[in-house]
Formats: sequence, structure tokens, C-alpha cells
Amino acid sequence: MRKKIILPVFLSALALTMMGFMKPTHTEKPDKMKKNNLVIPAKVQQVIDQSCYGCHHSGAKSEKALKALNFDKLTKLTKFKLVGKLQDMADVISDGDMPPKKFLAKHPEKGLSEQQKTLLINWAGKAAEEIIEKK
Ligand code: HEC
Repeated sequence: MRKKIILPVFLSALALTMMGFMKPTHTEKPDKMKKNNLVIPAKVQQVIDQSCYGCHHSGAKSEKALKALNFDKLTKLTKFKLVGKLQDMADVISDGDMPPKKFLAKHPEKGLSEQQKTLLINWAGKAAEEIIEKK
């Protein structure tokens, strides 16, 4: 008789102990606060390097430009912030605000062709959408 009682008690005690070990030690952050895994296709990166990166990367001279956007730090942003940045990028490009006109007067070769504008705007839109949809 005794053995029959002890075994189930022992097993459930074991199960409880194991559950204790398996319990996650940290609570998950809400999804929109998680770090993103932004992918920049090579074709897009090439255009960014040509027309944007010089002013918007760690080590660039203009504090103002870096505060607005730093391509080196994009993947460190939360999803929530990154979506905002992608939207900003699409906006300034379609408005023709970036690269700045003063800068283009001196460096016309850094300007965006219509094709390049479309490429960047489409990429920014798609990337933002994927970030919002993916869990
Ligand atoms: C010659 C330097 C320079 C280049 C090249 C440049 N930017 Fe900027 N950018 C700035 C500066 C300076 C600011 C901040 C001041 C301002 O808003 O005018 C800025 C601001 C921005 C902002 C924030 C605008 C806002 O309204 O908050 C975005 C987004 C941006 N740039 C994207 C780009 C993209 C995309 C490119 C390439 C197509 C680019 N920039 C090329 C200098 C540059």
C-alpha cells in the first residue's frame, strides 16, 4: 500500500522542481520594444552609401545630422523607433529634402536619380511594413 502512494508523490514533487528550473528568468518585453533585425539589401545600401551615409554615420561631423539619423545605429533602435525613421527617410526623399540642396550644389554626383529615389522609398516602406507585421 505504502509504495503506491509514495511514487506519485515523488513524481509530482519532481515535476514541480523541474518546472521551477524551466521557468523563464526574465519577462519578455512587449514586441514593439524588441530590437529589430533590419535588413538592407546591397542595392539599397549602395545608394545610401553614395548619397546619405557620409553625413549620417557614427563619426560624421554634423551633430544635427546624426541626431536625426545614424545608419550605423539603425539596428540598435527598437522596432517602434525604426519604423519612425524609415518613414522619415521615405518622406525626406520624396520631398527632395535629402541630400540637402546646398550639398548637392557642390556634389551633384551624390544626388539621387528618380530610380534611386523609388528604390529607397519602396525599400523603406516595405521594411517598415515587415517590422510591423512580424512578431
Ligand atoms: C551633406 C550632409 C547630408 C547628406 C548627404 C544627407 N543628409 Fe540627411 N540630414 C542632414 C542634416 C544636417 C540633417 C538635420 C538637419 C535638418 O533637418 O536639416 C539631416 C536630417 C535628415 C533626416 C531627418 C529629417 C527630419 O525631418 O527629421 C532624415 C530622415 C535624413 N536626413 C535622411 C537622409 C537620407 C535618406 C539621405 C540620403 C538620401 C540624407 N539624409 C543625406 C545632412 C545630410
